[in-house]
Amino acid sequence: MKKVTILGSTGSIGTQALDVIEKNREQFQIETLACGYNTALLAKQIEAFSPKQAITAEEADARRLSKQYPKTEFLWGEAGLLAAAADESQLLLNALVGMQGLLPTCRAIEQGKDIALANKETLVAGGELVMRAVSEKGVNMLPVDSEHSAIFQCLQGNQGKPIKRILLTASGGPFRGYTRAQLAGVTLEQALCHPKWSMGKKITIDSATMMNKGLEVIEARWLFDVPLRNIEILVHPQSIVHSAVEFEDTSIIAQLGLADMRVPISVALAYPERLVRQARGLDFFKEGANLTFEAPDPTVFGCIRLAYEASEAGGSYPVVLNAANEVMVDRFLKGQIAFTDIEKNIQKILEHHTPTYNLELNDIIDIDQKIREEV
Ligand SMILES: NC(=O)c1ccc[n+]([C@@H]2O[C@H](COP(=O)([O-])OP(=O)(O)OC[C@H]3O[C@@H](n4cnc5c(N)ncnc54)[C@H](OP(=O)(O)O)[C@@H]3O)[C@@H](O)[C@H]2O)c1
Repeated sequence: MKKVTILGSTGSIGTQALDVIEKNREQFQIETLACGYNTALLAKQIEAFSPKQAITAEEADARRLSKQYPKTEFLWGEAGLLAAAADESQLLLNALVGMQGLLPTCRAIEQGKDIALANKETLVAGGELVMRAVSEKGVNMLPVDSEHSAIFQCLQGNQGKPIKRILLTASGGPFRGYTRAQLAGVTLEQALCHPKWSMGKKITIDSATMMNKGLEVIEARWLFDVPLRNIEILVHPQSIVHSAVEFEDTSIIAQLGLADMRVPISVALAYPERLVRQARGLDFFKEGANLTFEAPDPTVFGCIRLAYEASEAGGSYPVVLNAANEVMVDRFLKGQIAFTDIEKNIQKILEHHTPTYNLELNDIIDIDQKIREEV
C-alpha cells in the first residue's frame, strides 16, 4: 500500500486523482487531504477515504469539521499545508494552484518523499533550487502535467542519453488562429471555454493566453535539465501526441493517448508500476487519423516569448513572471482588466524589474510577495 497525501484534493487534478485511487483502493491509502475553501466537497472526500489528517484554508472551517469528523485531525492555512507535506505519506501529490505550492513541495522533499507534481508554478519560481534538493535527497519528481508525463515516459530506459530536442505539444487553446486584433475583443466566457481539457480557472486562462505553454517550457527545462533553446513548442490541436523527445540519432519517441488527465495522474501515482485502467484507448483510425502540427505564433501569443525571455534571463525574472501572471489572471477573472492586458501588464512589470540572482527559498518568497504588493 502506498500512502498518498493530496494537496488541492478538491480541484480538477485532486478530484481526478481521487477517482484513480478510488478505482485502485488496494494499492493506495490516503494519509492527508488538503483543500482551500470547498469544505462541502472535502467533507464528502473525508467520508469516502477516511484520511488521518485534513487541511482547510480557514481555521473556522477546520474547527467546524473537526466536530463532525472526530477521527480526522484538522489543521489549517500554510502551517497546515506544511504539516501535510511532513506527514507519514510516501508520495505527495501537489495539486495546489499557484505559488503557494512551492513551500510544501520543498518541505516534502526535505522529508525524503516522492513528489507527484501538478503545481507547475513550483518549478517556474523555484526550479533550480527544487531540482537541486530532489537530487540531494534522491527522491523522485514525477510530473503530472500531461506533456511532462509524456516526456518522462519517453525517457524511461533512456536516462542520461543526450536529448537533442524536447517537442512540447500544445492544443493552441480556444484562440488558436486568432489575430491580435481579434484577441483584444475576447470575453471571459470565451477564454474559459477550452477546446480539449476541463481544468481549473487559472490554468484555463493560462492556456488561452498560452502563458501555460511558456510556464511548461520552464517546467521542462528544470525537470529534464535541457537548455531552453532545445525545447520546441508544437501546436497540435487534436491533443493526442502529448509530447516527444528527439535523441542525438534523430529518433523521436512520443507518447500518445486520448486527452484524459487520469492517465498522467495514474503514471505518477503508481510509478514505477502501471495501473490497469478500464477505459478505451486511442483508436488510430478515428482520433489518430488526422494529426496535425503547426508552429505557435509568439507575435500573437506574446506570453510564450515573455516566458522564454524570463527563464533565459534567470535570477528573479521567472519569479516575477509567475507572480505577475497570477495577479493579472486573477484580475481578468474578476473582470477588472481585458484579456490582452494580461500580457501587456506582465511585460511592463518585467521591464521595470531590477533582477537579483543566486536566490534562496526565502528570497523567492520575498520577491513573490513584493511583486504582488507592488502590482
Ligand atoms: N487541471 C488540469 O487538467 C491540469 C493539468 C496540468 C497541470 N495542472 C496544474 O495543476 C495545478 C492545479 O490545477 P487545477 O486545474 O486542479 O486547479 P483547481 O481546479 O483550481 O484546484 C486548485 C486546488 O487548490 C486549492 N486551493 C486554492 N487555494 C488554496 C489555499 N489558499 N489553500 C489551500 N488550498 C487551496 C483548491 O481548493 P478549493 O477549491 O477547496 O478552494 C483546489 O483544491 C495547477 O498548478 C495547474 O497548472 C492542472
